[in-house]
Amino acid sequence: MKLKHVIESQQFTKESLEELFDVAHIMEKLSTQVKTLTNKIMISLFYEPSTRTRLSFESAMIRLGGSVASTENAQNFSSAAKGETLEDTIRVLSGYGDVIVLRHHEAGAAHRASEVSEIPIINAGDGTGQHPTQSLLDIFTIKKEIGHIDGTKIAMVGDLANGRTVRSLAYLLAKYDDIKMYFVSPPNVKMGDDIKEHLQKHGVDYEENSDLREVAGKVDVIYQTRVQRERFDSIEEYEKAHGIYIIDNEILDILPKSSIVMHPLPRVDEIKYEVDKDPRAAYFRQAHNGLFIRMALLSILLENH
Ligand code: CP
Repeated sequence: MKLKHVIESQQFTKESLEELFDVAHIMEKLSTQVKTLTNKIMISLFYEPSTRTRLSFESAMIRLGGSVASTENAQNFSSAAKGETLEDTIRVLSGYGDVIVLRHHEAGAAHRASEVSEIPIINAGDGTGQHPTQSLLDIFTIKKEIGHIDGTKIAMVGDLANGRTVRSLAYLLAKYDDIKMYFVSPPNVKMGDDIKEHLQKHGVDYEENSDLREVAGKVDVIYQTRVQRERFDSIEEYEKAHGIYIIDNEILDILPKSSIVMHPLPRVDEIKYEVDKDPRAAYFRQAHNGLFIRMALLSILLENH
């Protein structure tokens, strides 16, 4: 697989995904024994908060024998606070490391960074744009848990307008056969028209449905998401969307026994803690898979470079 940057889900093919999964499985088996990046430096540049993405990338790099230079809260603690542009920051950091993992509050920021960078850029979430490495670990998880990706029926639930994870996941799943997506969201945070147009263009079956109880009995995966308070213009708009769709034991009673509940995390109150002990609660296993997928991505991007 040839990868220069990781910017959006559309750049992957089914074949390249299989290759990535094969490497991720090797990483899972060998874990800390693969010291192939000992002379490489990963720069993590995060303008927005993160637990999983930043720390799993950093752990992945360290497990591969590489080193990490990191700026969290870059909006305040990098020279962005003095007015430096993203482009200038990237040009400079290109000379310091071998790969940049970038999380930014503006959609399109990772693409802009890739246009001026001498080294690979990995999009770790760009505003309401995309979060491609999350969607890679998501479909890796679906394959591990369900056994296949073709034929998957999935309900994407919650804040679909602001959720970059569901956008990236929809683009990736659209590459597979016989996928059915149910978009279950409050009216003010529906899935974007650009995604729906993409699905129509590629003949992917989807429907919008406001009744989670009706949908829950038909799907292999419920992909729950947080209503992202920080992305709303007013508290009133947030309140209209918040607290409507909650996964609890009543939803689990409807969900088929072989199905799973996923969530990119962090959760707030949209999955009740009572769900955690059900074997179908896959979200912590999903987060763990992020380590292996990110080890695989770093290896593919940096080995032989
Ligand atoms: N899923 C995810 O992106 O989590 P973080 O915001 O904690 O990185």
